[in-house]
Amino acid sequence: MVEPPDTITLRRPDDWHVHLRDGEMLAMVLPFTARRFARAIVMPNLLPPVRTVATAIGYRRRIMAALAAGADFTPLMTCYLTDGTDPQEIARGYRDGAFTAVKLYPARATTNSQFGVTDYDRIMPVLECLTDLGMPLLVHGEVTDPEVDVFDREAVFIERVLGPLRRRLPELRIVLEHITTTQAVDYVSCGDANLAATITAHHLVINRNAIFAGGIQPHLYCLPIAKRDRDRRALRRAATSGNPKFFLGTDSAPHAIPAKEAAVGCAGIFTAPCALEIYTEVFDEEGALDRLEAFAALNGPEFYRLAPNEGRITLQRKPALVPKRIGQASAAVVPFRAGEEVRWRLAE
Ligand code: NCD
Ligand code: ZN
Repeated sequence: MVEPPDTITLRRPDDWHVHLRDGEMLAMVLPFTARRFARAIVMPNLLPPVRTVATAIGYRRRIMAALAAGADFTPLMTCYLTDGTDPQEIARGYRDGAFTAVKLYPARATTNSQFGVTDYDRIMPVLECLTDLGMPLLVHGEVTDPEVDVFDREAVFIERVLGPLRRRLPELRIVLEHITTTQAVDYVSCGDANLAATITAHHLVINRNAIFAGGIQPHLYCLPIAKRDRDRRALRRAATSGNPKFFLGTDSAPHAIPAKEAAVGCAGIFTAPCALEIYTEVFDEEGALDRLEAFAALNGPEFYRLAPNEGRITLQRKPALVPKRIGQASAAVVPFRAGEEVRWRLAE
């Protein structure tokens, strides 16, 4: 048997789904992403959301201004879709390079989604425009019907919304974001080349038991919520399969401690400080380190029709402790795996 390697060098990866926030929080979280990833798809769910070319350009400027001197990082901006989005604005933003993709949040599905889509008929002109442009639609795939069990919302979304939408617009290029279920893995695997999915690091390592282990664990609450262990195992198989339809998207979603440790805590797990390292750990455990580069650095650019990065990054099999908290005072955030070791780290 060949011993697994103790270091691995990859093309620099990209994060195809991240929340960088704004202001002080942006300054605090950005270095973790920029150090590891050459590019990232930046989620538009600020308050108010990024809905116009002008706000996307302004937000991108603030991200660039928050970068350390010499950092090699390109934010790829997204437009938050509402019932009233003007297709012209999207087309203009795409042609000018201000928008890379459009993000669909069903209204009230998740954090800051209250301006999201309530009526799929009303967004058809935008979706037709995206189809013509070949511009990706990024989908938060959960129904919001309170009658539907929270653990079934992704599977029901595929049945009720995504399936019919794909039949109506088969040429529309869709990324089903942060998938969490066996149903999503199967649906994406069976789809054509216009359908892909991102998978987070945390959904590869926790199942829903973790959210309740020893008492309620607010820092493990995110949306879509973690599912059964058989779903986690299906996600691991998909990520490590080498299938180009699956690629890396951390969904790192920081919230200050008071917003998480509250009677009503908000959804989001902050993984940026250790997500790449955890993906590496998972691929190592699955005996698939030779497929990590495809998942992290090749499949995403291929779907987005961008060139892979030329730079390289090296990870080393050497345990590193994740800090218990990151940031100061009331702005501090508890990262995923806080106070625990991850078995891989970035090489110096
Ligand atoms: C995200 C956030 O906090 O912005 N939260 C989350 O649980 N993933 C929103 C999202 O991507 O759903
Ligand atoms: Zn997200």
